[in-house]
Amino acid sequence: MTWPQAFKRIPAASWAQRPVGSFALHYDTVENHGWYANLEPTVEQLDSFLQAGQTLIDYSGGTGILTERLLQRWGNRDQNILIVDSSPKFLRLALDKFESDPRVAFRRIRFLRDEKRLQHLHEVVPTSLRESGVHALVSTNAIHLYNQLEQTASSWYQVLRPGSRIFIQSGNIDHPGRNADEWIIDDTVHHLHRTAVDIVRSGAYEAYRHHLDDEKRMAAYDALRHKYFLPVRPSSHYINSLQQVGFVDLQTTTSRIEAHRNDWADFLCAYHEGVLGWIGGVEKIEGTPPTDQAVQDRISLLRTALSQVFENRKTFFCCWTYITGRRP
Ligand SMILES: C[S@@+](CC[C@H](N)C(=O)[O-])C[C@H]1O[C@@H](n2cnc3c(N)ncnc32)[C@H](O)[C@@H]1O
Repeated sequence: MTWPQAFKRIPAASWAQRPVGSFALHYDTVENHGWYANLEPTVEQLDSFLQAGQTLIDYSGGTGILTERLLQRWGNRDQNILIVDSSPKFLRLALDKFESDPRVAFRRIRFLRDEKRLQHLHEVVPTSLRESGVHALVSTNAIHLYNQLEQTASSWYQVLRPGSRIFIQSGNIDHPGRNADEWIIDDTVHHLHRTAVDIVRSGAYEAYRHHLDDEKRMAAYDALRHKYFLPVRPSSHYINSLQQVGFVDLQTTTSRIEAHRNDWADFLCAYHEGVLGWIGGVEKIEGTPPTDQAVQDRISLLRTALSQVFENRKTFFCCWTYITGRRP
């Protein structure tokens, strides 16, 4: 199958004209991290469901890591993949990877300032594509970030054809079947913060110790951390919302994923403001940016604290949750 005639694979949007940026390139290195084995069960699920010639939406597809793995699996197989994402930077990198592959298309969901919300999927997927049929939608490592979960899922429902499937997974969903030694990956950040507080209180990084007694300032950085790393919700929260908008046959499984501490620390360093912003401060709270020395201290403390959280072990186990469902 090819795309409907009127459908433009690459929209004429400003994000598509910009150069690829360093932030997206940094994010994309997770592709080589052990914990990105979390995509393997999803690749298996999609491979066994989708037939050649069908269309998949990689919702929150980011820099296209899942799409790349699927195309590797499928070789030259005829398969349409539409990557949809809210980040112009991530989409730009995805475009760089797949511009010359006619099977891959791109759409950005924009933030609508007046309505204070992101566009929904049905607002960016044209009728021509809906009429030709969308057979599956996948969302990897992202559903925990959706602040309008029901509206998002309802929009998926509108775009998908009857009998289609959804494949969702995230390492930031709690599940009753989780083993005692398995982490929810974002929870490590809150433990890291508490360990960093103990390290600073015990005398190291002395220049920052006085901040610990400034409750108002610490609360502002707690709030910032929770904005970057949202509170973990149970799988039932997601199942209920998906059921509410009409999806059926909802099934949940989990997978035990091994993460390397240094990979995870490298990933967290990209978000150091959110993790340990109280070391040196961040511009949007203080009005002035941190010094280079403060950023260096922050990153060094981040690595030390993470190492203490895992008692110097090089790897740790996480629980990834996979939810599938059907649009009747
Ligand atoms: C952790 S990345 C995962 C990217 C990709 N699916 C993967 O597994 O590598 C999360 C993605 O969700 C997107 N995102 C964040 N908030 C979103 C929202 N409210 N709705 C849709 N996508 C969102 C981000 O732009 C980002 O690409």
